[in-house]
Amino acid sequence: MSEALRIGLAGLGTVGAAVFRLLSDKADHVAARAGRPIRVVGVSARSRERDRGLDLSNVTWHDDPDTLARDPDVDVFVELIGGEGDPASSSVRGALTAGKPVVTANKALLAASGVELARLAESKGVTIGYEAAVAGGIPVIKTLREAVAGNRVSRVWGILNGTCNYILTEMEEEGLSFEECLAEAQRLGYAEADPTFDIEGHDSAHKLALLAALAFGTEIDTESIHLEGISTITPEDLEAAEELGFRIKLLGVARRTESGVEQRVTPTMVPRMSAMAGIHGVLNAVAVDGDEVGEIMLVGPGAGSTATASAVVGDLMDIARGGVCPPIFGMPAKDLAPYKRARMRAHEGGYYIRLAVYDRPGAFAAIAQRMAEQSISLESIMQKDRRDPDNPGGKPRRVVLITHETSEAQIRKALTAIMDDGQIEGRPQMIRIEMP
Ligand SMILES: NC(=O)c1ccc[n+]([C@@H]2O[C@H](COP(=O)([O-])OP(=O)(O)OC[C@H]3O[C@@H](n4cnc5c(N)ncnc54)[C@H](OP(=O)(O)O)[C@@H]3O)[C@@H](O)[C@H]2O)c1
Repeated sequence: MSEALRIGLAGLGTVGAAVFRLLSDKADHVAARAGRPIRVVGVSARSRERDRGLDLSNVTWHDDPDTLARDPDVDVFVELIGGEGDPASSSVRGALTAGKPVVTANKALLAASGVELARLAESKGVTIGYEAAVAGGIPVIKTLREAVAGNRVSRVWGILNGTCNYILTEMEEEGLSFEECLAEAQRLGYAEADPTFDIEGHDSAHKLALLAALAFGTEIDTESIHLEGISTITPEDLEAAEELGFRIKLLGVARRTESGVEQRVTPTMVPRMSAMAGIHGVLNAVAVDGDEVGEIMLVGPGAGSTATASAVVGDLMDIARGGVCPPIFGMPAKDLAPYKRARMRAHEGGYYIRLAVYDRPGAFAAIAQRMAEQSISLESIMQKDRRDPDNPGGKPRRVVLITHETSEAQIRKALTAIMDDGQIEGRPQMIRIEMP
């Protein structure tokens, strides 16, 4: 058997420790399939004293990940520190500059500087493995970059954040509020103490930006993603969705359109009988529409120590086998097209609208009139609250509308006019519908 591939492992937290464990517990299994042993020779983390339950007696400790990345005894640098800044960024750059392949789970770093890092790697003739950076254990990078490479992809979309999917599933199944389900997710360790990054869609956006670049051969543009989080979703929306034959999911959707690429992370309604609607709890799912293959969907754990380590080790085994690694973003980074953003106003689709309508004569007629002015036709109208005979004209009544396919520009104009007319309380709830 050939010489061992020597790994420098920076970060020994949730994922790093699991990678270390997998490589030592399954050393023979990995060596047999990779054609050579894969051995961690150096590690780095913040605290040397912390007991991680790992036997680090045969590895060199580096206080500074940058020195580990450049260590001549290291063949491949594995970055599992996280964050788009240093030392994750500096150590990855250091390893690539020294001509070493890098494996990372760091979506934040790649979403911010992936193309620049890919250019650096390709100029040195080395690769960056990042299967673990998108949807944890689900092999979506390999699928897009290799398995469906002969397809022209028109859409890549899915559930990219397990925390949000857990919260929405609990809200639906238990009829609880967003705040109650978030607290439960925090208690179970599914949500961070500061959950903003997950629930406002930023985490999904990082992953979507990488998927869009791979799918469409464009540069990464995380800034152009239209973002809406799940904190505005109420149990009433989930209940109405169910009655209308839908479920609400936080979806990342990237679509090729005539005017450019549309990227959005928004709470979205999907038909209740569709495969995407059946993804519950912390699971992730990614679907790809290719012109040759049709639609494929991958489902699995999008996070967690062992699932993410599985993806990291898969990338390491590819490197250990040698041979030609496919271009990092599916084509040479210098050939990726500049990202051209499709405006959200040009989005076409169905919409769910929830309004709190004042119980006044003519209110419904005025709303219907505003919709008609924008040529919006309604698929269904549901009035949720009964009129209180003892207090007519009292509390506003909830009205839920589902539109036929229309443009977002028309919907926004109609809703602005409805608000200006003063027939509704507060702002309308608007949720896009995505069809499989
Ligand atoms: N957790 C998941 O399920 C998951 C899933 C997919 C992707 N990821 C990605 O994987 C990466 C790692 O995530 P994680 O959950 O394993 O994070 P984590 O548990 O917080 O571990 C981070 C590790 O980095 C070390 N570190 C932090 N700052 C450092 C510094 N300045 N110098 C050296 N070491 C430093 C920490 O050292 P100490 O241990 O001494 O504090 C720790 O070992 C992130 O990019 C994350 O987005 C995670």
